[in-house]
Amino acid sequence: MQVVSVFFLVGVVFVPVGVVSLLAAQDVVEIIDRYDHACVPPNMTDNKLAYIQNETIPKDCTRTLTVTKEMKQPIYVYYQLDNFYQNHRRYVKSRNDAQLRDYKKSNTTTSCDPERFTADGKPIVPCGLIAWSLFNDTYSFTRGKDNLTVDKKDISWKSDREHKFANNVYPSNFQNGALIGGKKLNSSIPLSEQEDLIVWMRTAALPTFRKLYGRIYVDLKANDTIIVRLSNNYNTYSFGGKKKLVLSTATWLGGKNDFLGFAYLIVGGLCIFLAFAFTLLYLIKPSNAMPASNLLDFGSVWFDM
Ligand SMILES: *[C@@H]1O[C@H](CO)[C@@H](O)[C@H](O)[C@H]1NC(C)=O
Ligand SMILES: *[C@@H]1O[C@H](CO)[C@@H](O)[C@H](O)[C@H]1NC(C)=O
Ligand SMILES: *[C@@H]1O[C@H](CO)[C@@H](O)[C@H](O)[C@H]1NC(C)=O
Ligand SMILES: *[C@@H]1O[C@H](CO)[C@@H](O)[C@H](O)[C@H]1NC(C)=O
Ligand SMILES: *[C@@H]1O[C@H](CO)[C@@H](O)[C@H](O)[C@H]1NC(C)=O
Ligand SMILES: *[C@@H]1O[C@H](CO)[C@@H](O)[C@H](O)[C@H]1NC(C)=O
Ligand SMILES: *[C@@H]1O[C@H](CO)[C@@H](O)[C@H](O)[C@H]1NC(C)=O
Repeated sequence: MQVVSVFFLVGVVFVPVGVVSLLAAQDVVEIIDRYDHACVPPNMTDNKLAYIQNETIPKDCTRTLTVTKEMKQPIYVYYQLDNFYQNHRRYVKSRNDAQLRDYKKSNTTTSCDPERFTADGKPIVPCGLIAWSLFNDTYSFTRGKDNLTVDKKDISWKSDREHKFANNVYPSNFQNGALIGGKKLNSSIPLSEQEDLIVWMRTAALPTFRKLYGRIYVDLKANDTIIVRLSNNYNTYSFGGKKKLVLSTATWLGGKNDFLGFAYLIVGGLCIFLAFAFTLLYLIKPSNAMPASNLLDFGSVWFDM
């Protein structure tokens, strides 16, 4: 009966966790604004590439958001990219972790092709395609006459800042080539404090992803009008990617994500069902007194289906 009690226990734990997760996800308020189309001037909508690649065309853009439901601080500001394959094999390998951690010791740019050296052969720090393609749109927010300050501190994982990006490695020869891939880095700030870079370099597994841009420590009321001034710099037009700005309150679970809740509910429900099924089998055929190993075989049949 050990197997049955394990199933039962897992079910009894998972089902409430699932319910709580789902309830928490319901409370999250999100404002999502896709701006990559809207920010292209009307006379250039059929030539977006010319627009984004032409440095003389201003990239500022103003968006108006209406708060649908009260949002308690902290409000998380994310950018969301769609159709961006950060997990592409060639892309995801184009980095050198030893360099980020300790350039003096490693002194290397291996595996960073095609962003290893500048045209005149100087090593690039941070090297590689991932760093090179650092997201470079910027946002600022006002409500009425007030600026809503975006706090960009502590947006990255503490463990990344402390162990993966050195506080004595500084960007050099970065984004110096003919083709600019994204944001430039201030070369007097060590990598461990380049939080946008650190966030970006924790690559996403899926082609649609969100990355934290900052936090706003102000409560927003329903019907508040937020003006967003943004710089629409980043080129997603060449591969048909979408750009979205997301304002979100977050619970202890992180975001508006029902998946985890459902996953817990389904696994938990299945476990309880199996516990009952096994108990029934046991009661119907007590004379055979099924040993646990048989039960396990039976269980694996279920899971193989
Ligand atoms: C598009 O319109 C803007 C003004 O709204 C103008 O400055 C720009 O030159 C125009 N671009 C083209 C390609 O017509
Ligand atoms: C960039 O835009 C300006 C004005 O909008 C235009 O005169 C110029 O030809 C464009 N440059 C390129 C390389 O398309
Ligand atoms: C890194 O290696 C190159 C060539 O091996 C050498 O010239 C350079 O001085 C080294 N740099 C550091 C910081 O050790
Ligand atoms: C809001 O920010 C802008 C630009 O940074 C600045 O010019 C303005 O004085 C600020 N306004 C207030 C009320 O702080
Ligand atoms: C932003 O990144 C794009 C590439 O996506 C680049 O063409 C552009 O020059 C960059 N702009 C700024 C202001 O960094
Ligand atoms: C780079 O960072 C230093 C130190 O924080 C600062 O004094 C300087 O103004 C920054 N430079 C630029 C171009 O932002
Ligand atoms: C927001 O606006 C809607 C319609 O304009 C109104 O019905 C609602 O009461 C307002 N909510 C708040 C909290 O002011």
